[in-house]
Amino acid sequence: MAESAHIARIKKNAKRDNIDLTVLPFLASALADIQKIFTQTISGVPTFSNATRIDTHVHPVPSWFHDLQPLAGGRETPSWDILSHFNFMLSHSITRSILCISTPQANAFPGDKPKTRALARILNEFTSALVTVYPDRFSFLAVTALPYVEESIAEVRYALNELGAVGVGVLTNHEALYPGDKMFRPLWEYLQNRSSEREIIFIHPTDPLMKVDGRLVDSKPSPLRSGLGEFYFETARAISSITASRTIIEFPKLHWRISHGAGAFPDIEDRFLLGVPMDAEEAWKIYATRAGPVYPRQIKGLLAHDVPVSQFVFGTDYPYGIGFWDVDANIAGLADADFLSPEEKDGIFHGNARELWKGKIGGV
Ligand SMILES: *[C@@H]1O[C@H](CO)[C@@H](O)[C@H](O)[C@H]1NC(C)=O
Ligand SMILES: *[C@@H]1O[C@H](CO)[C@@H](O)[C@H](O)[C@H]1NC(C)=O
Repeated sequence: MAESAHIARIKKNAKRDNIDLTVLPFLASALADIQKIFTQTISGVPTFSNATRIDTHVHPVPSWFHDLQPLAGGRETPSWDILSHFNFMLSHSITRSILCISTPQANAFPGDKPKTRALARILNEFTSALVTVYPDRFSFLAVTALPYVEESIAEVRYALNELGAVGVGVLTNHEALYPGDKMFRPLWEYLQNRSSEREIIFIHPTDPLMKVDGRLVDSKPSPLRSGLGEFYFETARAISSITASRTIIEFPKLHWRISHGAGAFPDIEDRFLLGVPMDAEEAWKIYATRAGPVYPRQIKGLLAHDVPVSQFVFGTDYPYGIGFWDVDANIAGLADADFLSPEEKDGIFHGNARELWKGKIGGV
């Protein structure tokens, strides 16, 4: 079969950017999968006439990524397809999903820079293809090649400028480096320097790692699978990292979206900020204006921490939550919450996300 213009473009851009895609053993199936997004006709796509919600935490799972990474947070990686996703959206009145590849993003080959770069690129091409073909339903956040920072700047530049990404997704740690690590500063500086009004960074948990004698080792202290609780501690470590390093203060254009209701951070933040007394007051302000959580059950506790409702956006974690927690009950918990006004709920379900992304995510 002749190579399509889409695949030719992907190969040409990778070559231009000095990325060798052929280091990926599954490259052929990844390219075939991307090609299929452009060429297939999906029958039975529902109409979304009355859907209004924006899902800001949702993960497409290419089949080759599923094979590469059969477990996520200790559970089986879910399978995913476009039509099932649309049906999920419709059954929950979701008009737009802001896609971001889940853990381990491009970190499936620890210590291997060429493969990490190639995987970041092919994941971004895959997600961008979904947005190109279904612009009314999908937007996407680019993944990076972290811990390789120069390569990540190049990748993020490409994804934001040429592929239409509306932000960047990072993990709580990339091969044992947390987002406030000084190694990562040039990436935040690059984003801060862009001509845009703001840049959005989504932090998603992953398994903890440590470097011991130059070797990466699993540092999860508990035998329990990380999706149960460790992800919350990871999230707290990541927020602690960008706070203690002053990353949140020094790059005022960056808006941090923290998944899972900021994890365990709200419970430690009073105590943690005792350690950075000079910055504590400013950090509180930033948490209330440029950071924010996404998980319904913790809303009441977070409101008690003076996080205003305008900082909350809705996110389902589809399809990873399916069979783990009750998505319907979770969404109903938010829709029926007696401590939020109808206007506040509209804000969480869609208005706050539109405000956050300004004109970047389309629709009304
Ligand atoms: C959305 O519209 C469909 C018909 O197109 C209708 O069956 C459904 O009840 C509506 N949902 C809401 C939440 O209004
Ligand atoms: C960001 O801009 C500053 C000031 O113009 C410049 O010194 C720095 O090199 C830039 N950094 C990056 C990563 O683009």
